[in-house]
Amino acid sequence: MTHAIEAALFLHLLGVAVWIGGMVFAHFCLRPALGDLAPQLRLPLWEAVFARFFNWVAGAVLVILITGGFLLAQYGGAHAAWPLHAMAGLGIVMMLIFGHIRFGVFPRIRRAVQAQNWPDGARAVGTVRRLVVVNLVLGVVTIGTAVLSRGI
Ligand code: HEM
Repeated sequence: MTHAIEAALFLHLLGVAVWIGGMVFAHFCLRPALGDLAPQLRLPLWEAVFARFFNWVAGAVLVILITGGFLLAQYGGAHAAWPLHAMAGLGIVMMLIFGHIRFGVFPRIRRAVQAQNWPDGARAVGTVRRLVVVNLVLGVVTIGTAVLSRGI
């Protein structure tokens, strides 16, 4: 069982690294680098980038959810330390925000790019940017909460 816990934690952290690392790269590296491009180039590029990245995030979310649920059960389920419940709560909020980005906002970017409606596309990409910042902050708080659980 010890190895099952280690394997689950390994996959859990891999999922977290893909999700948080991808958001850091998109927000702090790709976004500023594309800033000067014309919307005709920038928005189709964002659509292509998001289409791929969101598949990776969906996979990471699945892995984090399954391994996190397993780990939580191993650490006492309902009786686990409060930071673990806080992590689960924050994690689920992050996943709901991702769901809104993927299924609510991303289709707007797709439609705008297909219709070459650049102002609409730019607005939708701006919404993704704001929600990614929210998820980045929540992600950092969640990692802090996870570490806090060690001292309890
Ligand atoms: C449904 C959501 C989640 C559940 C149920 C969950 C549950 C757990 C559990 C039970 C552990 C083991 C704690 C330990 O080994 O002491 C853990 C570890 C960890 N989780 Fe989560 N987690 C979730 C989401 C997240 C998210 C979204 C993040 C980061 C953004 C995250 C970051 C971490 C980290 C960094 C650890 C390692 C903590 C350590 O070993 O010190 N978790 N998680």
